[in-house]
Amino acid sequence: MYEVNARQKLIMLPGPTNVSERVMRAMLQPVINHRGDAFRELHRGVLEKTRRLFQTEGDVVVFSASGTGGVEAAVWNLIRPGDVAVVPVFGEFSSRLAEAVEMAGGTAVKVASEFGSVPSLGQIEEAMAEAGNFRAMFLVHNETSTGVAAPYVQEATKMARDHGAFAVIDAISSLGGYAIPVDAWGVDMCITGSQKCVAAPPGLSLLSVSKRVVEFLRQSPTKTRYFEISRYLEYGAKGETPFTPALPLFYALDEALKELLEEGLAKRVQRHGEMSARLYDGLSNAGVKAVAKPEVRSKTVIASYYPPGVEDGVFRKTLAIEKDILVAGGFGPFAGKVFRVGCMGHVNAEIVDRTIRAVDETLSKLRAI
Ligand SMILES: Cc1ncc(COP(=O)(O)O)c(C=O)c1O
Repeated sequence: MYEVNARQKLIMLPGPTNVSERVMRAMLQPVINHRGDAFRELHRGVLEKTRRLFQTEGDVVVFSASGTGGVEAAVWNLIRPGDVAVVPVFGEFSSRLAEAVEMAGGTAVKVASEFGSVPSLGQIEEAMAEAGNFRAMFLVHNETSTGVAAPYVQEATKMARDHGAFAVIDAISSLGGYAIPVDAWGVDMCITGSQKCVAAPPGLSLLSVSKRVVEFLRQSPTKTRYFEISRYLEYGAKGETPFTPALPLFYALDEALKELLEEGLAKRVQRHGEMSARLYDGLSNAGVKAVAKPEVRSKTVIASYYPPGVEDGVFRKTLAIEKDILVAGGFGPFAGKVFRVGCMGHVNAEIVDRTIRAVDETLSKLRAI
């Protein structure tokens, strides 16, 4: 069970999340040559465990870059100037994804819905039919900005593939708290970040790559060097990375993935479900209303409206100073109106109850002022 370290604050952000002493200590291992056997062994171990996280027999890549790097890698490796991509847009991170497609010279067909909800599968199907010949669908599974999860990753993936397009899933704030079996569901690329449900420090992005993508890249090389996936696969086959890896983070990720696999992916997913239900209930009892409707509520990010009269900055500062707990504010139209609590990684009943109590007491105190 995760022990809260008395020296630091309890991190209930939607990433980064609390990292165990065991994982932190792993980073103290010696600096080694990344072209030597010791690194090859470490890297191979990381890739093998990453495969188990994505539930794939196929290729995986770990980039020394935060989640945005993994997302840009997916976009730049698949989109060529003039290509069309279908992008459901329902928050900050899906808006950024649509922008990334345009920056790579593509056209993003946006399927929009209000922040706090998700576009329907019917809307997505309609957009795909209208787009006709499109290269890929880029779907953010869990909109960290609004606490909403698209409940149809498998169905949307199938729809994209039925149209002959690639299905790419940004699962940066969800994989590990949710299972996305990429082989079984036919996901062409799935991306996650080290600092979320995997409970490693920030700085690495993990990506799965289908055989169809590997074949496409063979025929149509990409114009990015740092994120050139085929180069990572070529070096990965030798146990290496093409460029100097963020070595301490690889040590940490290896240990964090060991923790995850020791618990078991299915158990971890179940725990995220139980702990998020406990958070939704507890926060509701404390008098705050969740942003997301029950059917699209995220199990890893709980976004709630402030009661009238509670000021965002004051609330979060009071919670941090008086209760030693960090939570996040809102994005875009939700800025100042909403706070977000992460339910990721090592989250357990003790941590959840402490957070609920602290939020309740802080809101009562601020309302009384
Ligand atoms: C869904 C989603 N996509 C992309 C990102 C960007 O990841 P990073 O901040 O690690 O670059 C985040 C970060 O929170 C995210 O939640």
